[in-house]
Amino acid sequence: MAYCGGSISLPESLVDKLRGARSIAVLTGSGVSAESGVPTFREAQTGLWERYDPHELATPEAYQRDPKLVWEWYSWRRELVERAAPNPGHAALAELERNLIGGFVLITQNVDGLHRRAGSQHVLELHGNIMRSLCPIEEVIVEPSKDDDSIPPSCPGCGAFLRPDVVWFGEALPAGPLEEAFRAARGCDLFISAGTSGLVHPAASLPFEALRSGAVLVEINPNDTPLTRHADYALRGRAGEALPKLVAATFGEDRKESLGR
Ligand code: OAD
Repeated sequence: MAYCGGSISLPESLVDKLRGARSIAVLTGSGVSAESGVPTFREAQTGLWERYDPHELATPEAYQRDPKLVWEWYSWRRELVERAAPNPGHAALAELERNLIGGFVLITQNVDGLHRRAGSQHVLELHGNIMRSLCPIEEVIVEPSKDDDSIPPSCPGCGAFLRPDVVWFGEALPAGPLEEAFRAARGCDLFISAGTSGLVHPAASLPFEALRSGAVLVEINPNDTPLTRHADYALRGRAGEALPKLVAATFGEDRKESLGR
């Protein structure tokens, strides 16, 4: 494993692999949105979970028990996300998708919608999207009616309390995006895991699936994770710095700059 610390410069061998890759898959976690001011989940200084017990807020039982509290927590997170803007890491992944001739799949655990706002088109949202509301009875995405100021709002169709369209602890991930994510991990020849602690399955299994299928594995994270020692390249730094460098190297622009020369 090549370990790249400090201000990130990419090993020549990684640049060659990026430029030779026929298909690239990327898995992102909340660390990619951290530079947009969106708190991560588990980090002490910004972690959402530090202030709340996730099992008090992000489970079907919590919603049954206190739908108003859970809805208000998600409303707070929605407002925070609406104020956030995509950062250079998001923009780099959108550029990679636009310019990569071969296959490219972006798989995200994030529910903030920032990849799409940065211009990424084909995004597999494994954990849903906080900006969408779901009727749990009709299982359809619903826009709450403008004059419904109840908390939570009710489904205009059947009157049930709406919920955020996100995966809660103990719930299954959307089958389609998950199957496509595993297909992409098995089929790519280079897999990038960026901004995730790699603790929550099944998303955390994707990099290992890629490794088993012979892909080169690149991790971008300022800290160690359970994946780090398995990665071919562990870029120890911020996604907002590393991803633009990876993309510049992939297309040969500023080759010297991305190599840190
Ligand atoms: P975590 O909070 O568990 O991990 C965030 C990771 O991002 C950590 O490993 C940080 O070191 C890293 N990080 C922080 N700043 C970074 C930066 N600027 N650039 C790159 N990396 C940075 O969040 P996730 O791994 O996304 O699931 O958590 C995975 C899932 O756990 C979430 O999707 C959520 C949670 O339960 C559901 O809600 C279903």
